[in-house]
Amino acid sequence: LATTEVDISKIQPGQAIKTSWRKQPVFIRNLTPAEIKAANAVPLSELRDPQSLADRTKPGKANWLITLGVCTHLGCVPLGAGEGENRGPYGGYFCPCHGSAYDTAARIRSGPAPLNLQVPEYSFISPTTVQIG
Ligand code: FES
Repeated sequence: LATTEVDISKIQPGQAIKTSWRKQPVFIRNLTPAEIKAANAVPLSELRDPQSLADRTKPGKANWLITLGVCTHLGCVPLGAGEGENRGPYGGYFCPCHGSAYDTAARIRSGPAPLNLQVPEYSFISPTTVQIG
């Protein structure tokens, strides 16, 4: 089973990086307190794919949002992590292919994509190192 270790020590609050795992793009984002607050303020009943930020992050590490960088519509790589700063109208990620917009928990909010960006298996192997897979 292939795993990838990523040093997250240089990712500042508000920054997102793109890495890869099993040849798929992976986004690692250090959410700011305001971005966490924005994610937690959305009622789950408003969501197409209802999940809380807590459902999508590890306990005590709500600022570390780790998802695949693969749009759940037709698989383009959304913008917002290292490739342009267009994070779209919900402040998370924006897929330029057909206009799917994801929020600060990488949940689908508008456009044709049916599901949130997928959270891969991962774990913290140190406070500054994440193992994906
Ligand atoms: Fe992202 Fe279609 S592939 S909106």
